[in-house]
Amino acid sequence: MMNKKNILITGSTKGIGLEIAKHFASDFNVFITARKEIELEKLCKQYNFAGYYACDLSLTDGAERLFRELNKDFDILINNAGMYIYNPIENMRPVDTVNSIVLNSLTPYELIKRVVPYMKKQKWGRIINIGSISGVMGEAYASVYSMTKASLIGLTKSLALELAQDNITVNIINPGWVDTDLINNENLEETFSKQEIIETIPQKRFVTPDEIASMCEYLISDKAKTITGQSINICAGLSLGY
Ligand SMILES: NC(=O)c1ccc[n+]([C@@H]2O[C@H](COP(=O)([O-])OP(=O)(O)OC[C@H]3O[C@@H](n4cnc5c(N)ncnc54)[C@H](OP(=O)(O)O)[C@@H]3O)[C@@H](O)[C@H]2O)c1
Repeated sequence: MMNKKNILITGSTKGIGLEIAKHFASDFNVFITARKEIELEKLCKQYNFAGYYACDLSLTDGAERLFRELNKDFDILINNAGMYIYNPIENMRPVDTVNSIVLNSLTPYELIKRVVPYMKKQKWGRIINIGSISGVMGEAYASVYSMTKASLIGLTKSLALELAQDNITVNIINPGWVDTDLINNENLEETFSKQEIIETIPQKRFVTPDEIASMCEYLISDKAKTITGQSINICAGLSLGY
């Protein structure tokens, strides 16, 4: 029997990340991470995940600590953890700006840096970044979020080129609105109700975490081995305009 591949998914205790982890639980050694240790421990037992480590990835040493503690080689990395701030630029607190940049942008870069040596050695690897449609288009009052998610597109394309000959693919999925805790955001809720958000979406529906997980499943499969450097919008038509 073939050994199961190791997959690391950040931000995997709820929302999109947990759904991706659940999709892969039976065929892969799934490693999960987020800040709440009790939640990680509970989910690990519940879904038979291979391991977890609790850490704050909005800290600049988060990626390094995560790697040191898990002490594993990863065949697949899914950079999913992210934070969303909805605020006019002049009201942004420096701490939120810096945390957003580290969590959404720098940590994915630092994690990729740590998985690549093993992937290169074995001449196989899959890296998926979870961006946002706000990084493809603009989003008023989410400038730092949009900035960090746009940076992931540049990172994805550059690394896809750099790693193409090592049989490592790097892609980014840009979700539109998904009904998770990320959008249960005080500032956003003061401005828009869920129904008002739905009215802005061409298909008049949220994207589901399951639809993002299914795309991840496809991208790591052998069928998708020639798909690399792609920025894939799963957004119910949101990127097309109103
Ligand atoms: N929901 C949407 O509409 C939407 C749209 C486009 C893109 N996305 C992107 O999709 C990804 C997942 O979003 P989601 O909607 O599933 O979010 P979510 O439901 O809020 O889940 C976020 C996950 O990340 C973890 N996390 C948050 N801050 C962290 C930190 N500082 N360090 C480590 N882990 C942290 C959370 O656990 P802890 O709180 O325990 O740390 C949780 O497991 C994000 O990158 C987001 O930008 C979401």
